[in-house]
Amino acid sequence: MDASGEACRATWGSRLGFVLAAAGSAVGLGAVWKFPYVVGQHGGGAFLVIYLGCVLTLGVALLLAEMTVGRLTGQSITTALRTLGGRAWAWVGRIATFNAFAILSFYVVVGGWTVTYLMRAFTGSVLANDTQRLVAEFSAFTANPVASLASMGVFLGLTALIVAAGVQKGIERAGKWLMPALFLLMLLVIARALTLPGAMAGVAWFLTPDFSIISGDTLLEALGLAFFSLSLGAGMIVVYGSYLPRDARLAGSAVWVATLATLACCLAGLMILPAVFAFGVPPDAGPGLTFITMPAIFAQMPFGHAIAIAFFLLLLFAALTSAVSLFEPVAAFLIDEYQWRRSTAVLAVFVATFLFGAPAALSFGIWSDVRLFDRTIFDLMDYVTVNLLMPAGGLCIAIFVGTSIWPKARTVLEGSRAQWFVPVWRVLLLVLTPIAIFGVWYQTF
Ligand code: PFF
Repeated sequence: MDASGEACRATWGSRLGFVLAAAGSAVGLGAVWKFPYVVGQHGGGAFLVIYLGCVLTLGVALLLAEMTVGRLTGQSITTALRTLGGRAWAWVGRIATFNAFAILSFYVVVGGWTVTYLMRAFTGSVLANDTQRLVAEFSAFTANPVASLASMGVFLGLTALIVAAGVQKGIERAGKWLMPALFLLMLLVIARALTLPGAMAGVAWFLTPDFSIISGDTLLEALGLAFFSLSLGAGMIVVYGSYLPRDARLAGSAVWVATLATLACCLAGLMILPAVFAFGVPPDAGPGLTFITMPAIFAQMPFGHAIAIAFFLLLLFAALTSAVSLFEPVAAFLIDEYQWRRSTAVLAVFVATFLFGAPAALSFGIWSDVRLFDRTIFDLMDYVTVNLLMPAGGLCIAIFVGTSIWPKARTVLEGSRAQWFVPVWRVLLLVLTPIAIFGVWYQTF
């Protein structure tokens, strides 16, 4: 993130600046698009409980660990790990940066869907009561290679422009208003969704755990989603931690970021899943769930047209702040490691992401038959990066912070009221995180 030079590595004026930036990365399509459909595929309440359990334990511990690495060095992940741990650890940083690139490549596909739905919201064509029609429209759009590649290109282009212009900070600051606006709008939509006939069955399904349906795969998805929704395991939080002022309270900031990210997920769940039941859409309908359900809710709301526009605008903003947080470290890596010019690096990341993301986009249409390990290209990219590489990255950072740099790491909590948390943090890093990650992988494979 220090791509534009040392001068830019000013510390955040306040802790709020950090929390906003990290939450801007965390709150995005993960909450509004991924969370509802993954909960939908994995049985509702029990999944929610496991997801929340992961966030509250390893999620908070790892947020704090990544922030600590950034705070101790003031550097982004690869350089930070090299400074603190030597050349071998720098490899963890390189792999994490590659992972950020791979996540970005499928993230932009869904970012493109948001762009298209925003345009449809402007024209009003998105509003429809008939969910059969909405399903058909979503399938037709995502299967159309020109439409899906073009919308992906627009979203990626917007992300690249923000990074090239170096206006990330301004965008993050705008989050101070736009993130609460998104939350408020979600509350409004929830109010409508909950009053739809049949919606309460969805609420009960979302909030009542039935642990008998839990499989290894469910545990893996919940773990992966915890990493994805908190932007963990790919070095993102290290970057934000590097800007933290010396006197910022780290533990409190970690709890804030985790709270905002999970709140966004829970609001999205309450917005979509009751409506899914009310409209008779199967909850396991897959990645299109949000895009199929939202327009039908808007169609049943007063001022639905305006609300649809505001919703997709705010969602696009949230998606862009997350995509920028993935794009920037990849570009910064090329600048720091290979001394590329900033404009060259941004262009290279743009082109590489487009090429890597295109097969994922096409896997909803002309390449839907291409299956690897029984998954479409999109699903495989999502699965490998979110469920395998992110936990692996998190595990390495947990072990690094809990062993190699522990004497230094614990000092970041000095003077904080949360002294009781210091030993708990170490247990979470060195015992719970490895047991949970290896345990879940063992169950699944
Ligand atoms: N947390 C983001 C979201 O939920 O949309 C996605 C994300 C951003 C994941 C940055 C990973 C990351 F490093």
